[in-house]
Amino acid sequence: MSARPDRGDSAASGRPARTAAVIPAAGRGVRLGPGAPKALRPLNGTPMLVHAVRAMAGSRSVSLVVVVAPPDGADEVRRLLDAYPLSGSLTDTTEVVVVPGGETRQESVRKGLAAVPETVTTVLVHDAARPLVPVDTVDAVVAAVRDGAPAVVPALPLSDTVKQVEPRIGERAGEPEPVVGTPERALLRAVQTPQGFDRATLVAAHEKVALEGEGATDDAGMVERLGVEVVVVPGHEEAFKVTRPLDLVLAEAVLARRRANDGF
Ligand code: CTP
Ligand code: MG
Repeated sequence: MSARPDRGDSAASGRPARTAAVIPAAGRGVRLGPGAPKALRPLNGTPMLVHAVRAMAGSRSVSLVVVVAPPDGADEVRRLLDAYPLSGSLTDTTEVVVVPGGETRQESVRKGLAAVPETVTTVLVHDAARPLVPVDTVDAVVAAVRDGAPAVVPALPLSDTVKQVEPRIGERAGEPEPVVGTPERALLRAVQTPQGFDRATLVAAHEKVALEGEGATDDAGMVERLGVEVVVVPGHEEAFKVTRPLDLVLAEAVLARRRANDGF
């Protein structure tokens, strides 16, 4: 019997249930301000991307991680990942592959997905910018896909009420924006990653649903456009996305709290 029975386990269908995680990490991090590409910036001395890879490799079901590096940075990212141990467990055998990314997140995910072999049945897509997602959240997403959901998204209720506005752009930028609606907050969810998919469903979404311009910021949204049902499972506060400078402060505080708790 394998020491890691979850890995390569059989799904109810009898197919081998192999899970891979694609980590888009090719963004610049413009909203974080000047500096290295966001995924390479350190959190308590360790690059954000390394935290994110560890979060995926830490799930027993994940046997392959595909890191999507900045288009001209694949070699640098490969060297970086080789320089950091990827998990605390010596028996961990998660394979890590690095591929170059694209101009938009959607393009980067598509390139990462192209490196996932057909033997993989479940694909997670996880932002490098969510380095602190707990393993229980990852496992809950994988479990829901293995239980038959084609697309699963971790999500949380909102704290803030949300307004829809008519954006003022061009010459009118900076003017007060008229409110055109207030969706009922209780019906809204803020979605996180990892988002989990039946591999064929996600591949079909990327083949058939091409969004113009900035592309999709959310893979589940592309699957929705296919007409396939997407479900949510509970997300986690610590799966927040590092987007602006204050998020770095919060991330380092979370790491400090974890370290303090580990000490007891
Ligand atoms: N991403 C990517 N390829 C791109 C753009 C984004 O792989 N061309 C990745 C980012 O590296 C990040 C994730 O998508 O892990 C979520 O994107 P976001 O938080 O918007 O990161 P950035 O695009 O880097 O940040 P910004 O929008 O502030 O520039
Ligand atoms: Mg972005």
